[in-house]
Parts: sequence; structure tokens; C-alpha cells
Amino acid sequence: SESGCLSIIVLGASGDLAKKKTFPALYHLYRQGFLHPDEVHIFGYARTRISDDELRDRIRGYLGKEAEVVSKFLQLIKYVSGSYDTEDGFQLLDKEISQHEVSKNSAEGSSRRLFYLALPPSVYPTVCRMIRKCCMNKSDNGGWTRIVIEKPFGKDLESAENLSAHIGELFEEAQLFRIDHYLGKELVQNLLVLRFANRFFLPLWNRDNISNVQIVFRENFGTEGRGGYFDEYGIIRDIIQNHLLQILCLVAMEKPVSLKPEYIRDEKVKVLQSVLPIRDEDVVLGQYEGYRDDPTVPDQSNTPTFATVVLRIHNERWEGVPFILKAGKALHSSKAEIRVQFKDVPGDIFKCQKQGRNEFVIRLQPSEAMYMKLTVKQPGLEMSTVQSELDLSYMQRYQGVPIPEAYERLILDTIRGDQQHFVRRDELKAAWEIFTPLLHRIDNGEMKPKEYQPGSRGPVEADELLAKAGYVQTHGYIWIPPTL
Ligand code: BG6
Repeated sequence: SESGCLSIIVLGASGDLAKKKTFPALYHLYRQGFLHPDEVHIFGYARTRISDDELRDRIRGYLGKEAEVVSKFLQLIKYVSGSYDTEDGFQLLDKEISQHEVSKNSAEGSSRRLFYLALPPSVYPTVCRMIRKCCMNKSDNGGWTRIVIEKPFGKDLESAENLSAHIGELFEEAQLFRIDHYLGKELVQNLLVLRFANRFFLPLWNRDNISNVQIVFRENFGTEGRGGYFDEYGIIRDIIQNHLLQILCLVAMEKPVSLKPEYIRDEKVKVLQSVLPIRDEDVVLGQYEGYRDDPTVPDQSNTPTFATVVLRIHNERWEGVPFILKAGKALHSSKAEIRVQFKDVPGDIFKCQKQGRNEFVIRLQPSEAMYMKLTVKQPGLEMSTVQSELDLSYMQRYQGVPIPEAYERLILDTIRGDQQHFVRRDELKAAWEIFTPLLHRIDNGEMKPKEYQPGSRGPVEADELLAKAGYVQTHGYIWIPPTL
């Protein structure tokens, strides 16, 4: 069933996500030969009444400079307009897909249909029902139907479970691909390899050696332009409950039985289930000054644009090791990284002159890298020490090797049917269980964000919480990504 006709249907084709992420990802796959013109057809579906060419013109600017390749790719796209809640549009869509299947299929060819919902989640249930009713692959033909969806999957445990139940009545779990695009990032995908293919890490990766783990996301711009969406969700739902928590799972989980996606996801669920309830004193919330000036944000908004949350994992490996998740908008820099800080050396004879602790840092973006901070002898005649690093910077070590975009890789996975890098239903539920009580307290105004200056490190209380959790900052040292 993995060959034959492939139809990729982008619902919400005229929207922002489709233009900026979905179509460019498809284009890159096409350019690298993963989408064969002999097999593949792409359908855009949306309410707007435009022609094929009008859709193509809207997308073109986001695709790249090789005009000829771009044009060939755009020829694969057909546009169908229709509403999201009535059958006629979806019947028309089915007719178009079927025609394409008939024209492309040789005798044994099968029909594979990938529906990418670049739509607001409020319409997921309706659209899924329409697909189920009108657009399934024709079974006498073999093949499959798959659905790709993206967060927000609800706003709390209850609404998420509702959504899951609705969609779950229509499609099997194996047909559902819940995207968390952080799982498509190169260095996130590397975590499994790093942790389980290297002898170095095995004996160190536990409470005996690790003092604390930080998983950090910063952006140096605010919510400009999407304040309306953001204000309903806030930084915990936007970044922490999904992206950072997924990373936590990969950092903390036990070794899976094998690389089978279900085994990996089983281990991730166990980590989530071992997370203890969040205590108020382990949370600092922030909102940047000026956030509420956005006309789409209510004047009284209590929504955090910054949060530091310390999670504790109650199991043999991690008891007592704080996992600090930190995310913020409008901060002093943009970066995402994992920082594993080791404990002090016991009986340290260099203690008085040392700058800092050992750290293992995985820089997800920008300047993908991993580096180990360690203490070495300062080169020269004196016997003094200095903080240095073993540095694996991708730009240098993998010169000229393009790092694929997260969406590119994840869409390829959906075509191949590999669910490893997608969020399973029980995983999603466990993630919501962790954050829902805290989110409800914030929504009810029982916890208030502290104000911080745009362009700052966030509220000072957050740094105090880090220190309380045992994180020791290294003074007078900064890692500088190498340049070519
Ligand atoms: C999205 C969030 O999921 O991730 C955005 O909704 C955020 O608020 C974005 O800006 C960050 O993604 P990336 O890949 O640019 O780090």
C-alpha cells in the first residue's frame, strides 16, 4: 500500500499556516524528490472562491527562488472551494481526488489520502466528520486515509478529551497524526540517539550526577499580530505544555524496548505520568509591559507571556532533580535549548578558583549545537583553571549539510506512516493532566503574572526560582557559536 497514487489535501489552503509552513514543506519535499509527479497530486481546499492560479500566486512567494522548479510544483496543485460544514464541498473534493486517482493509477495502484488540517481546532470535529463521510480512500483500491492536525488540542484536560473523543469516533489512532513541530527539529530528534547510543551518558544520566535540567524557549518579539489567539491560550498552552514538555519526555524517559514508535511513546507516557502535581511556589508568571496595548488583547488580561515552572519527576532515576521549564515572549534574545547541569565534584581541590559546573547543553536553535562545559587548565605557565567547552556545532561540523525544516520531516513521516514523532492520545491526556490545575488557577485570576520589561530576562523572581531550584549560573563565561 506504500506506492501508487498519493493525494495530499491541504484544508485551510488560503490561510497563514498553509502558506507559511505546509506548502513550503511540501515544496521542499518535492524538490528533493520525495513527492513524485507521477504519483502525487496536491489539493487545496478552503471557503474562498479563487481559481487554481490565484491560489498558486498566493503561495509562490513563500517557496523559493528556483522559478522553474517552483512552477512545476505549483502545477501539481488544484484548488477546490467549499464550506467546512456541508457535504457538497467535500463531495466535490472527493470527485476531484477520485478522478486524479483513476487517471494516475495503474492496475495495482492504491489510493492514499493525506488530509492536512491547516485550520482552527474548532472546526476539526466537523471537518473530520465530512472527510469520514465523503472523502475516504476507496477501500477496494487499497491504500489509506490519514489526518494531520496541530495544536491547540483543547484548552484543558476536559476540552482536549472531548476533542479526542470526537475525532476518535471517526478515525483510528493509527490514522491520526498530531503534530508538535518541536518533535521535527533536528536536535530534538537527536536526543534519542545521543542518550541511548553513547556510553558517555549512560552512567551519568540520573539523580546521582545531575543537579537540575533546564528546558528554555525565548523569543525576542512579542505577540504582535496574533494577540487575539495568544491571549486565549497564554505561554503555558502555547509552548510549555506541548513543545517543552515533549522535550522533557525525551530527556527523562527510560530506554525504549526498541525503536518501534509505540515503544518510544510508551516510555514518554510513563514520564508524564510520573510528574508530581505542580506547587504554586514552583511557578513564576510574567506578562511584558505593553502586551495589553495590543487592540486584540483585553485591557484586563491576566494571560502570562512568560512562565517558569519547575516540574518534579517521581521515579527512581529523577527523584529530587528539578526540571525547569521556561518560556517567554518579548525577552532579550531568541533561542531554545536544553541545559543539563551536573552536581559539584565531591571533595573538589580546585573549588576556590572554579568558574562553574559541568553542563551539557543542546542548542536547538539558532546555531544548532551541543556543547559540554568543562573546567580545563588555563593554557600557559600558571596552574590555573578556566571554563571551556567541547563543542559540536553543526554549522562547522556539518558544513553545507542542510538541516530540514520540522514540517518537512514530519509531513514525510505522515506519508510513510511513522508515528514516532507525533503525539499519541494518551500522551496528550497525560500532558494536560499536569498543567490543567495550574491553568485553571491562572484563568480564574488566582495567580497573577508579574510585569517585566520587553527586552529583559523576564521577571527577576524567575531567576530567584532558578537559584532556589539549585541552578548555579556560570559567571564570566559565554559560549560563542563558531562562525565559518
Ligand atoms: C508555535 C507557537 O507553536 O511555536 C508560537 O504557537 C511560537 O508562539 C512558535 O512562536 C515557535 O516555533 P519555532 O519553530 O519558531 O521555534
